[in-house]
Amino acid sequence: MKITFFEIKDWEKEYITKRLKGHKLVFLKETISENDLAAVKDSEIISVFIYSKVDKIVLEKMKNLKAVVTRSTGYDHIDLKECKKRKVKVYNVPNYGQNTVAEHTFALILSLSRRINRAYDRTTRGNFSFDDLEGFDIKDKTIGIIGMGSIGRHVARIANGFEMKVLAYDPYPNKILEKDLNFRYSSLNELLKNSDIVSLHCPYDKKSHHLINSKNITLMKKGALLINTARGGLVDTTALVKALSSGKLGGAGLDVLEEEGLIKEEAQLLSSKFPREKLENLLEDHLLLTFENVIITPHMAFYSEEALRRILDITIRNIECITENKVCEAIVG
Ligand code: NAI
Repeated sequence: MKITFFEIKDWEKEYITKRLKGHKLVFLKETISENDLAAVKDSEIISVFIYSKVDKIVLEKMKNLKAVVTRSTGYDHIDLKECKKRKVKVYNVPNYGQNTVAEHTFALILSLSRRINRAYDRTTRGNFSFDDLEGFDIKDKTIGIIGMGSIGRHVARIANGFEMKVLAYDPYPNKILEKDLNFRYSSLNELLKNSDIVSLHCPYDKKSHHLINSKNITLMKKGALLINTARGGLVDTTALVKALSSGKLGGAGLDVLEEEGLIKEEAQLLSSKFPREKLENLLEDHLLLTFENVIITPHMAFYSEEALRRILDITIRNIECITENKVCEAIVG
C-alpha cells in the first residue's frame, strides 16, 4: 500500500521504516495543507498529526484513501462525517503514557518530600550543609488521588509500593478496582481533609474548572502537598498562591499551569508548530516560581523515550490492522 506520513521528524522516519515493511512509504515534514498533494494523492493510508486538517478538500483530492491514522489522542482535526461518507476509516492513539505521567507525579512528590530541588541548588554552589532540608517519609502517609482513570490507577499502584494509604475521588467509582488496588473512595471534601498529598488526575472541562479553589483548599491538612500533572485550570492559582504564602500548604508540584489553555494534548508540545515562547513567558511571569517549596516542570510528564516510541508503535499497529484487515480497538470512525 502507499502510505504517506505528514509532519514527520527524522527519527520517526527511521523508526517507522525499520518496522513497517512491504509498503511504499512516503515521509513529509510539512502538514497536509502545506503540501499540494500532487505526488501523494494516490495514497491509500495517510498518517497525520494535529496540525494537518483532514477536511473535505483534502479528502476530495485523495480518491484512493482507505484510512487516516492520526498520531495523537485527539482527532478533532479530522472531519469524521466526511470520512464516513467516503468509507475512510479513522484511527487514533488512545493511551500511550499512563505510567509515564504517574512516574513524573512521584518525581514531583519525592522532590518535595525530600527537598531535592533545594539540596541540588545548594550543592551546585559548593554548599554541603543540610540545614533546613529535613524531609518527611511518604510511607504511611495518605495520598488523595482525584480522578481514578488510567493515570490515577498507576499512581495508586506506585503509592501501594511506597506503603502509602490511598484515597480516591471519582464521580464514577469502580468497586472492583477499589478492592484490587487497595484504596478507598471518598467525597472530594473528605479526600482534601484527610490527605497529606493531593494529586490531580482528572480531565479539565467546564465542570472541573477550579476544582481546587479558595473555598475547598482551606479544608486541606496544614503542610499538605498539592500535585498537578493534569491541567492547570483545575486549580485556582490565586487560591494556591494564598495557601502557599500563608503556610497552609507545605508545597506544590506543578507540571501544568492555569494559563496553558492553548494546549489540547501533550503531543502538541512536541511540534515545531507549537508557540513555545508562550509557554516560556507564562512560566517566567508566574509568581509561583518564587516559592522555594514549589516545583514547576514545563508540561513534560508525558515526555519519556518510551512514551514517544509507544505513539509510533500504536500508529504502526493501527496501520497493520488496516493492511492485514484486522479489527482494531483504536478506531474512532
Ligand atoms: P482517564 O480518562 O483515563 O481518567 C480520568 C478519570 O477522571 C476518570 O476515571 C473520570 O471518571 C475521572 N473524572 C472525570 N471528571 C472528574 C472530576 N470532576 N473529578 C474527579 N474525577 C473525575 O484520563 P487519564 O489518561 O488518566 O488522564 C488524566 C488527565 O491527565 C488528562 O485529562 C490529561 O489532562 C492529563 N494528562 C497530562 C499529561 C502531562 O503530560 N502532564 C499527559 C497525559 C494526560
